[in-house]
Amino acid sequence: MLADRPDRNDHWIEYRVPERPTDSPPAHTRRRRYRGKNPRAFHDKYKELDSERYPADVKKVIASGKTPAGMHLPIMVDEVLRCLRPRAGEVAVDCTLGGGGHARALLDRVRPGGRVIGIDVDPLELPRTEARLRASGFGPDEFVARHANFAGLPKALAAEGLTRVDMILADLGVSSMQFDNPDRGFSYKGVGPLDMRMNPRRGESAAQLIARSSEEDLVRLLQENADEPHAPLIAHLLKLQPLDTTHAVDRLVRAGLGKALPRLEKTDIKMSVRRTFQALRIAVNDEFSALDALLRSLPRCLAPGGRVAMITFHSGEDRRVKKAFQAGYRSGIYSAIAGEVIRSTKDETFANRRAASAKLRWAVRAVDSPLSP
Ligand SMILES: C[S@@+](CC[C@H](N)C(=O)[O-])C[C@H]1O[C@@H](n2cnc3c(N)ncnc32)[C@H](O)[C@@H]1O
Repeated sequence: MLADRPDRNDHWIEYRVPERPTDSPPAHTRRRRYRGKNPRAFHDKYKELDSERYPADVKKVIASGKTPAGMHLPIMVDEVLRCLRPRAGEVAVDCTLGGGGHARALLDRVRPGGRVIGIDVDPLELPRTEARLRASGFGPDEFVARHANFAGLPKALAAEGLTRVDMILADLGVSSMQFDNPDRGFSYKGVGPLDMRMNPRRGESAAQLIARSSEEDLVRLLQENADEPHAPLIAHLLKLQPLDTTHAVDRLVRAGLGKALPRLEKTDIKMSVRRTFQALRIAVNDEFSALDALLRSLPRCLAPGGRVAMITFHSGEDRRVKKAFQAGYRSGIYSAIAGEVIRSTKDETFANRRAASAKLRWAVRAVDSPLSP
């Protein structure tokens, strides 16, 4: 049974944490005790993590302007649909499937006869999203979930017997499921291993990256990935001792900045901690290289007249998308591109704070461009 949902076109995402066989009764486990009236730690948010059993609690959290633990609210869904203009029978690629909110909205509109290929580099969340979409009635002929990095988009399409598609979407960064789960190590808000890998089965963790990098490397990384104004000081702090947990980095940066720069406001220190985590995450996942590769492959992966939409969350990403679209427009590959970025509405920003920094851009592949067949 799925969470309470008004209708099919609503962008509500059902989230189920406990994976148990449907024919066996739920195993009884005693709820973990927490201090105070409301749970603060991720794993204690029992009701939010099980929207199937507690839909009213989940709705209450959303109505209060917060995102329930373990649930990703898709951003600017209506705006994305206006840019992509999906029609029945068309084929779309969602390069960042995440919790499947955007993919679901596309699936509803390409029916009948259309198809959505959902790509994600995260091997842990991908099967859960696939299972939710299957449970919502989308069969393998309509929806395919593929574990891949969008840097290799042409290869991922070839695996589906495709070279070009009608629509491509990329909603960059990490999902709330990844970010909120302290075991993944993405956020200073939870205590967990200093990991930050979207694909925890490959590459090095943030802890390994810090240990291997020189202080100069870390300065560059903090400046290039997050425009951090106190990069030299933070890089120095990060090299003082081995760091294994998110909490250790949080404490170290807060205490170090507070001591060295006593005039800094607490909010400024918090912003520096946030930027430090962002810079490390971008480096661990090689996010800019992947985005550059995707932007290069877009023109040959889009059918003539095809549409692309991209949601970015910081200037390093938006700059790249803007420049690639402008260059494509000048050379005649794109017949139209977004003049201005599209931002989320006030209401959406209230309901989902992640939407505040989101920027949406779009482009249309020219019918008779230099790359046309
Ligand atoms: C912001 S979330 C997308 C949320 C999604 N639009 C939804 O409606 O739920 C970003 C997702 O992109 C994935 N991702 C990030 N970089 C990727 C890459 N280079 N290749 C494939 N997936 C990537 C992340 O693992 C994450 O699941």
